Amino acid sequence: MIPLTRPYFSSKKVNSISSAVKDILLSGNLMMGKWTNKFEKAFAKKLNKKYALTTNTCTTALQISLMFYKVKGYDVLVPSGSFQTNISTIKWAGAKPILVDMNPKTLSFCLNDLKKKITSKTKAIVWIHVTGVISYEYKKIVKFAKDNNLYLIEDCAHAHGSSIDNIQAGNIGDVGCFSFYPSKVMTTGTGGMLVTDDEKLAEYTMQMRLLGRNTRGSGVVLEGNDWFMDEIRACIGYYQLLDLNKHIKKRCSIANTYDKAFKNKKAITLIKTPKGSVNSYYQYTIILDKKINRDQLVLKLKKKYNIMTKRIWLPTHQEYIFRKLSFNRNSLLKTEETFNSSLCLPIFYNLTKNSQKKVIKAILKETSN
Ligand SMILES: Cc1ncc(COP(=O)(O)O)c(C=O)c1O
Repeated sequence: MIPLTRPYFSSKKVNSISSAVKDILLSGNLMMGKWTNKFEKAFAKKLNKKYALTTNTCTTALQISLMFYKVKGYDVLVPSGSFQTNISTIKWAGAKPILVDMNPKTLSFCLNDLKKKITSKTKAIVWIHVTGVISYEYKKIVKFAKDNNLYLIEDCAHAHGSSIDNIQAGNIGDVGCFSFYPSKVMTTGTGGMLVTDDEKLAEYTMQMRLLGRNTRGSGVVLEGNDWFMDEIRACIGYYQLLDLNKHIKKRCSIANTYDKAFKNKKAITLIKTPKGSVNSYYQYTIILDKKINRDQLVLKLKKKYNIMTKRIWLPTHQEYIFRKLSFNRNSLLKTEETFNSSLCLPIFYNLTKNSQKKVIKAILKETSN
């Protein structure tokens, strides 16, 4: 079976991590030590940010950001084309998620809908670089946030190494939140990172992730949680970060092979990476002609060709758990159309040329006619 994704560690890195893990276990210090420091410093340097702070997940980084910006009682704009915890974290922080439609070309906000849905109670925007592509309309999104005094929270769970006009994902908004879940472009088993230049947000994060303990003195100053990343995962993250550029290069090369095979095919629309932009290609996604039954295709690819594929997500407004959110479905139809015809193909560091050929052959065969 050709999987959709697979984490990759070279044998050299496996050796380095194994020996470091042994040292960590023998050191008796499993938290907030040398590896956390190394990983955070290297991540901050790569992103050219003052602060990079590890957390247990990206969801936590998002929640900490929303709580820091005191969104409780306010509205937060978020794409319906997002991950479930993009909605949950807004609710947990005491705010109301306002679902925004998608621009099918960017998989990001439909700007008109974003502008339409602002209210006198809007306080922040959660912006996701879906599949790793950064919207070519990014300057307009930033301007909209600035003009309206809205905090701009970037969800970079898909966008490690993505950039546009030499600005890296996580460096466009007020704060960037990354995920190191096993399927991601880089992984720590699971984990997250919050990046910012804001000293106050950095201090708040350091306290919240360590049970609200005062980082400057003694006592408990916030109602925090056990949200930190341990030394073993930080060590894995450090070594994954060293290989990030290499991994992105390989993903881009696989994407290029797919692009060449699928361009000008009637039944397939490609998601274009904007000029001057690097796409992490967390996922390689094609948009299928409406006549193709995507779910049947996914099943066929699995059963007949041993190839795993999937849709990006179900739009959040169609998830049963969010049925009680208030939204106007008619204003979210572009998200439905795009996600309903989306198909993510296998892409990961050691996807062989032979497997790429198999995927291409199967997709071309099953989408022609
Ligand atoms: C866009 C997006 N945001 C957030 C998350 C949550 O990441 P984590 O599992 O690290 O909390 C995911 C997970 O897949 C995601 O795809």
